[in-house]
Formats: sequence, structure tokens, C-alpha cells
Amino acid sequence: MSLTTPAARRDLAFHLHPSTNLRLVQDEGPLVITRGEGVYVYDDEGRRYLEAMSGLWCASLGFSERRLAEAAYRQMRELPFYHSFAGKVPAISTELAERLIRIAPADMRRALFANSGSEANDTAIKLAWYVNNAVNRPEKKKIIARQRAYHGVTVATASLTGLAFAQSDFDLPIARIVHTDAPYYYRGAKAGESEEAFAARLAASLEQLILREGSDTIAAFFAEPVMGAGGVIVPPATYFERIQPILRKYEILFVVDEVICGFGRTGNLFGTQTFDLKPDIITLAKALSAGYLPISATLLSNRLYEILLAQSDKLGIFGHGYTYSSHPVPAAVALETLKIYEERDIVAQVRRIAPRMQAALQSYSDHPLVGEARGIGLIGAIEIVRDKQTKQSFDPKAGIAAFLVRRAQQHGVILRNMPGDIVAFCPPLIVSESEIDEIFAGFAKALADTWKMVKEKGLA
Ligand SMILES: Cc1ncc(COP(=O)(O)O)c(C=O)c1O
Repeated sequence: MSLTTPAARRDLAFHLHPSTNLRLVQDEGPLVITRGEGVYVYDDEGRRYLEAMSGLWCASLGFSERRLAEAAYRQMRELPFYHSFAGKVPAISTELAERLIRIAPADMRRALFANSGSEANDTAIKLAWYVNNAVNRPEKKKIIARQRAYHGVTVATASLTGLAFAQSDFDLPIARIVHTDAPYYYRGAKAGESEEAFAARLAASLEQLILREGSDTIAAFFAEPVMGAGGVIVPPATYFERIQPILRKYEILFVVDEVICGFGRTGNLFGTQTFDLKPDIITLAKALSAGYLPISATLLSNRLYEILLAQSDKLGIFGHGYTYSSHPVPAAVALETLKIYEERDIVAQVRRIAPRMQAALQSYSDHPLVGEARGIGLIGAIEIVRDKQTKQSFDPKAGIAAFLVRRAQQHGVILRNMPGDIVAFCPPLIVSESEIDEIFAGFAKALADTWKMVKEKGLA
């Protein structure tokens, strides 16, 4: 059956779409993507789109990297499945673990693989609990995440995620999860407050939260170096510098969620380096395999590993892991991805192109609809506001950023809108300068369409 009419698409739309207005997609049908090439994807009518979100912040090498397809095929023929339970392991998986530990931005000792960022973070929560039981601190179990964080949507990680859509009517958050402030200078700072003063205030607020809850009840603090789905929030100057001593003071594990930032996105191989972080646990996914196959990793420090070792003496086994932890096929693709990053010096590539993208973002700062343009490396956002001076937002029901993103799609550029009328940009790391120009040419048209609509409807 052809998918060319909305009705036909509707008939075939048996998917339950994540993060989607189900009514809208049922009425209008999904955008059906059939193939990809470089930074472009094509729909079922042959229309081409520049994928300026790398799909879901993950297709770092674009959509036609043959080496990854070949690595998967080779591995499928060689050993299509094996696992790492009960002392066995696929060879390729040990190679990947070794390479990850070698390039890890902190002193990490072991890698546990899973299928998604959510599972990697879920594992990190379980490890924080397990380790504190092991060292006889059974009360030290609460986890602090930040408002606007996105750490996934499993029962536990949706509880960490500080965004209403992940929790409303799902009976979340679960107990023992608490939230502290988002490092969101544009919205959170007081009039005239410097970035440093704002960061100091947030650090004080974190310490107050810890003391209020009882420092001996807090196990871990989770943070994305740059918040992604919460609105591409780059931390203000000195933020992590002020937060980290507090975590150390109260012996709180620092879990750095590198699911978006990992592998070049912020202009270093890891966001941990960009912001000089000292994690106990690092979680990775997405660009680990360039998005080509599902795989994630939880890396843990030597100190934590030693505790797990001692627990095995006590309990017999380490009772965690999935059927597809260490699956050889995604491991082969991830290993090939890491080789490509190294051979092509992906970090240098990001540093070469990033100024073009950041300058393009900033060039919209004066537009009446743009409250703030922000970003770092090859990730950025534009926050749309009703009133530039007062930073007043549009009524969320007006769906202004959603309108803009739909228009951008019609102009051949795929962007993503997030709560708060924020439009995100996160192109594949292989993007060229002329492709950056193409992204912003599409965005400019979409912004002009939006401005016209807003004026016609008298919304601003
Ligand atoms: C920072 C971060 N952590 C975790 C996740 C969850 O990853 P997944 O969707 O693979 O479960 C995401 C997904 O977007 C993410 O952006």
C-alpha cells in the first residue's frame, strides 16, 4: 500500500508514538522516513530533509556510514549473539569496554552495557543503592536530580527526569528522588545577577536541600553536562566548580549523564572535560554507536568496582544485567564508531564547524521573537518569547515553537521543539559549514512564517 495520502498513513499508523500528541498524529499521520544519506533523510514521497537533530541527538555520523553497516554484518556472521552472564563474554564486547575505559575522561575501571540511556541511568541508580548497602549506609539512598533534567523514562529514570510530561499521570516520581534547581540562567537569574552569583546561589540552594533532607540520606547527584531535552541549558560560569565540592563534602556520588554530550558534542570528547567534572559514574548511549544500533554503557570508578567485588564475596553474584548487555552486534558497531571518531578526529571537526553554528544562532538574538540564543559546540537552542523585555512566554496552548518546527520541516529542515517554546539544534557531527547555512536558511524562513502568524493572530 502506498503511504502517499494522509488516510493511507493513518491506516498504517499502528505505532504508539513516544513524546507525541497521539490525537494529532492519529489525525494527520506520521512523517514516514524511508532512507538516509549523509546529514539528510528522505520521506516516503521522496522529500529530502536536513536532519538538524541527528534524529534524537544521536546520529553523529549521519545516515549512511557504510563502515557501521559492514561492522554489523561482519559481526552478525561471526557471532550474532552472546552474553556476559556467568563469566562468559563476547570477545568484541571486551574490546569495546577496553577502548571505552581507555578514552574515558575520568578514572573509570569497568563498563556495564545495556540497550538505552534510560537503562544506563537506571543501572547507575541501582549501583548507588547497592554500594551504600555494601558499605553499611542503608539510609544513604536518596538521589538528587535537577529540574528540567532528562535522564530517561523508565520508572526510576522518569522520576529523575525533571519534566512534567515524563511524570504526569504515570504515578511518578517514586520515593527517594528529590530535585534541585536547573542551572537555567536565562530564566532563573535575578535581575542584574551575574552568572557566577547565580551559580553560587544554586550551589547554596543545593547544600540547603542536602541539609534539609539529611546529608546521610543522599546517595547520588545526577547531571547532564549540558541539559538536552530540558532546553539545551549550558551551565553558567563556575556552576560545576561550586557544585562538586559540596558533593564531595557530603560523600555524594556524582553520576554524569553523557548520553547526549558524550563523543564530541560539546567540543571535547566528553562534556566531563568541557566542564572539568570528576564523576564516580558516567553513563553513555546515543553517539556511542552513532545511533545505528541500541547500546549504552555505565562506567564506574575503581573505588566503586572494589566495593562490588567485595559484595560478590558476600552475596555470591552481582545480580544485575540484561540479556542484551554485551550484545556483540551493537558492540561491534560501537567499536567501529569509536575508531571512526579517532581516525577522523571528530573533536577537531566539531571545533572547526561549531563557531559557524554558534554564530548563526547568535545572529537571531535581536529578532523580536527570540528571548535567548544559546549553545556550545554543535548543540544549541533558540528560546521563543512573546515579549523580549519581560521574557514573557506565549501561552503553551498556542504551540508557537511547534508551529515553527512544523514550518521548518516544510522548508526541509528537521528541528525539535521542547517545553517552553525552545527550538533545539543538534546536527550530525559530520555536518559541513554549507549544511549549517542550509539549516539556518530553513530556520530563518520558519521564523519569518511564525512571526507573520503571530502578528496576524495578534498574539504578540
Ligand atoms: C541526557 C539523556 N539521558 C538519558 C536519555 C535516555 O536515553 P534513552 O532514550 O536511550 O533511554 C536521554 C534521551 O534522550 C538523554 O538525552
